[in-house]
Amino acid sequence: MGKRLAVIGCGAIGSVIVEGVAGGLVDAEIVALMDVFPDKCMRLAAKRLDAGMPAVTDSLDDLLDASPDIVVEAASQEAVRSYGVEIVARGIDLVVMSVGALLDKGLREKLVKVAHASGASIYVPTGAIAGLDAVRALRPAGIYRVLLRTRKPPRALGYGELGAPETVFRGKASEAVKRFPRNINVVAALYLASGVEPEVEIIADPGVERNIHEITVEAEASRIHIVVENKPSPTNPKTSHLAALSVVELLRKLTGSEILVIGT
Ligand SMILES: NC(=O)c1ccc[n+]([C@@H]2O[C@H](COP(=O)([O-])OP(=O)(O)OC[C@H]3O[C@@H](n4cnc5c(N)ncnc54)[C@H](O)[C@@H]3O)[C@@H](O)[C@H]2O)c1
Repeated sequence: MGKRLAVIGCGAIGSVIVEGVAGGLVDAEIVALMDVFPDKCMRLAAKRLDAGMPAVTDSLDDLLDASPDIVVEAASQEAVRSYGVEIVARGIDLVVMSVGALLDKGLREKLVKVAHASGASIYVPTGAIAGLDAVRALRPAGIYRVLLRTRKPPRALGYGELGAPETVFRGKASEAVKRFPRNINVVAALYLASGVEPEVEIIADPGVERNIHEITVEAEASRIHIVVENKPSPTNPKTSHLAALSVVELLRKLTGSEILVIGT
């Protein structure tokens, strides 16, 4: 059996992770599922993991008692703040989905310092976009500018019916993350990968069904222009299904489920 996995957050992303393990995509044993509403995990565990019931809990102590090798946070920025340091202090690798939390320099530096001391690693999946590998590769050679234009159906941004597209935000990444904490993790991932604060535009567009991210990176070596059009998750319209799939893909790498690894 592969690595021991624990998941915090039994919502849209947590469900896809459990499916990935139950379906054999990820060679791991899920040893704990945690949520402030443990019933959500109970339903998931009963439905998906015939091979054995993980611990289902709302307490970090119970999760840690299950001795995971990797913990995936798929819950909220608050969860990263509340549990992150304690997890990495135990030498347990941490996968962070609520990347916006890492824009807090104090928290980020503490997590890195504690993980460095314990030997743990902290991973941020590519989430709802593509190209973070290239952005990271370009960074040492100089990145000048990063732009992100996000277009989503109004309901995905918490708006009611609109007659026409409306730009609901234009400004710096640090402000965008505060105003749209559940929608704009991609901004944080781009910021952390590039080291350049992205300029952000968010548009509520009644004419689109998908969450569309248009990314431009201007760098010394390359100019990257990427458009990603994501279907919302069936269970949470604020989350793109690709974001959940990207964690499964990362877990395949971390658990050695893939021998020939392309594009890392
Ligand atoms: N990196 C990316 O590209 C990306 C993309 C989409 C979503 N996200 C983030 O991932 C996280 C999960 O997304 P989702 O769509 O699965 O959300 P969701 O609302 O469907 O599920 C989240 C679950 O976590 C639980 N939860 C929240 N805070 C908790 C806490 N402090 N302790 C324990 N449980 C807690 C909730 O009860 C809920 O069941 C969100 O923060 C979201 O913003 C990141």
